[in-house]
Amino acid sequence: MKIFVTGAKGQLGRELIQQGSKDGLHLQGIDLPEHDIADSASLKALIEKYSPELVLNAAAFTMVDKAEAEPQLAEAGNHIGPANLSEICKKQKVPLIHISTDFVFDGERRTPYLPDEPMNPLSVYGRTKAAGEEAVRELLPRHLIVRTSWLYASNGANFVATMLRLGREHKKIRVVSDQFGSPTCAADLATALLSMGRQVLKNDGPWGTYHFCGSGITSWHGFAMAIFEQAKSHTALAVEEVEPITTSEYPTPARRPAYSALDCSWTTKDFGIVPRLWQESLEETLPNMLARYPDPKES
Ligand SMILES: NC(=O)c1ccc[n+]([C@@H]2O[C@H](COP(=O)([O-])OP(=O)(O)OC[C@H]3O[C@@H](n4cnc5c(N)ncnc54)[C@H](OP(=O)(O)O)[C@@H]3O)[C@@H](O)[C@H]2O)c1
Repeated sequence: MKIFVTGAKGQLGRELIQQGSKDGLHLQGIDLPEHDIADSASLKALIEKYSPELVLNAAAFTMVDKAEAEPQLAEAGNHIGPANLSEICKKQKVPLIHISTDFVFDGERRTPYLPDEPMNPLSVYGRTKAAGEEAVRELLPRHLIVRTSWLYASNGANFVATMLRLGREHKKIRVVSDQFGSPTCAADLATALLSMGRQVLKNDGPWGTYHFCGSGITSWHGFAMAIFEQAKSHTALAVEEVEPITTSEYPTPARRPAYSALDCSWTTKDFGIVPRLWQESLEETLPNMLARYPDPKES
């Protein structure tokens, strides 16, 4: 299988390239600053030249707060880029797997969102990701849109890495406890996407919108507590208290959904993919993360 991967240097992109290569797939990865998916002409030339069987879009402008101040960057990465990819894929007769986010929802529900529930994003990031989804749906029938949530990888800037740094530096940490969702390990998502890619190529479908995230629901506070509990068996931490706080006590430029758990049952039904418990994936990833960010006191 020959796959063209955008956002190849990001959390998910790196996992896709690593796992795909191990599986013997042929992959070409592109990313900023060399290649911008908002630049249609150069993107078209690259895809035509590589002639992939599948395009996987893991590129996105993911800095949720920065997007409020720089909406044109979010628009380029999250809307124009996916629209360009869809047009090129249509001309090349190649399917596209496009990754999206739980932040397309407003968080008003208290049960996990199914893929066909109406989007109502609260932020520039969410609005540009929703517009990217709409463009893919409108321009390219042979697509999968796979939404995920609270993504972390051993290689990226993410909540787990931030908690490990804070947990080494501070005795007391304050973490938001009234936003709920499902942590997702990028390695698990990459495995799921490669499996979905193989299946849609083999069976020419099913196409449409699906969800994949870690199994189970927690708050950022619950996630932080699990990170510290598990990390303490590998390394010394300074943190003694994790104080639960409300969203209003931790104001951010972008509004975030209070509840954004995703229902993955369609992915299980149509692709036979069953997400693992988020705590299990965390346990597997933490030693790698700690090896990448060694305790400065120990080195
Ligand atoms: N991170 C999360 O918590 C989360 C949650 C839900 C859904 N998602 C979705 O999951 C997917 C993967 O996220 P991730 O965490 O792996 O993101 P990431 O680590 O930020 O990686 C995204 C990559 O895309 C690149 N990029 C941004 N704009 C681009 C453009 N115009 N052209 C080409 N490349 C561009 C980024 O480059 P720069 O670093 O130079 O900007 C980065 O290397 C995205 O679709 C994201 O929306 C993420």
